[in-house]
Amino acid sequence: MEMKTKTMISTILISVLLSILLPVRTDYVRPQPRKTLHFPWNPKHPSVPQQVHVSLAGENHIRISWVTDDKSAPSIVEYGMSPGQYNFLSQGETTSYKYLFYRSGKIHHTVIGPLEHDTVYFYRCGGQGPEFQFKTPPGQFPVTFAVAGDLGQTGWTKSTLNHIEKCKYDVHLLPGDLSYADCMQHRWDTFGELVQPLASARPWMVTQGNHEKEKIPFFTDAFASYNARWKMPFEESKSTSNLYYSFEVAGVHVVMLGSYTDYDELSDQYSWLKADLSKVDRKKTPWLVVLFHVPWYNSNHAHQGEGDGMMMAMEPLFYAAGVDLVLTGHVHAYERSKRVNKGKSDPCGAVHITIGDGGNREGLAQKYVHPKPEWSVFREASFGHGELKIVNSTHAFWSWHRNDDDEPMRSDQVWITSLIGSECLAE
Ligand SMILES: [Fe+2]
Repeated sequence: MEMKTKTMISTILISVLLSILLPVRTDYVRPQPRKTLHFPWNPKHPSVPQQVHVSLAGENHIRISWVTDDKSAPSIVEYGMSPGQYNFLSQGETTSYKYLFYRSGKIHHTVIGPLEHDTVYFYRCGGQGPEFQFKTPPGQFPVTFAVAGDLGQTGWTKSTLNHIEKCKYDVHLLPGDLSYADCMQHRWDTFGELVQPLASARPWMVTQGNHEKEKIPFFTDAFASYNARWKMPFEESKSTSNLYYSFEVAGVHVVMLGSYTDYDELSDQYSWLKADLSKVDRKKTPWLVVLFHVPWYNSNHAHQGEGDGMMMAMEPLFYAAGVDLVLTGHVHAYERSKRVNKGKSDPCGAVHITIGDGGNREGLAQKYVHPKPEWSVFREASFGHGELKIVNSTHAFWSWHRNDDDEPMRSDQVWITSLIGSECLAE
């Protein structure tokens, strides 16, 4: 025993000495991709709620979504502020879809509210099954967003989700590519189960990526599964499509756009965006944040130039409105820009962050364009997630947390100052 203790002490001493004497290692050895998770077939009673997730649904309201195999299960949500005490009840709507030989369960969407800010609610779906709880976002600063795109359902996805679960955040933002179902519809169900512990506890606000586009000509619509399962507050934000919408939380106006729907000047999305931006009141929401899937500022070889068309059409609208921050995915790596516009740094442009490194099965995009463009500040191909803490009307702290093996490690961080009060927003 004594010998064992001595060995342990000498090992620790050697490690400490080595860490002092050896130069700091700067070359990060990236772990290997991890395999797709395989979920055991775990049948539930047909009317037990599955794949529960919540999302913001207009001022002081939350939409609760879940799936049952039982087509006659009710779409009610009972809720209250104490466990097991449900003083309120809301009735929702249902949908379902077919995809070749696949038949979805009954997909329920029920809006509840009005709700208090920054408050824990306990709820039950369909009048039975387990109790869940979520916390509503605060009504004012500070507010914290967790950000991770291109999630998929691999071992790395699980690491990313575990790290996000440990951080104190109010709303999850997902810039596209959720399940990587890629036409295998049961993978949407396993993804729903994988994210349920987090997505049932905090609002998940998502937009779509190329992996949500599951069109088979003459047989299936693009985004049929995504639209049925992940209903976002498009009607609440005067949009006619679930593929683009906006919402407000604390003092932040967040716009979610679609990279895979029309964006030219004659398109509905463009008209809606123009109208939505014109209504932003910077006194009420000093911060303006936009998410979509395909990055405009990307110095990775992967997907190089794919966002150019959308950028040409929409960047002038962003610039005129004074967008502070753009969050994108698609490239499986992390990159942060300076404030940019028209391809170069500009103090009145937006900071662009690519964070498509949630953990999907396709692996990382490791080849970069050289030399690094002048607008690019930090770039690295590792899995991880971001945290955006908006502290007040002028200052926000952004950090990127690399999945270093199974630990989250803060690898990039920066204070971002909003454009509010700057000459950029002068009338
Ligand atoms: Fe993608």
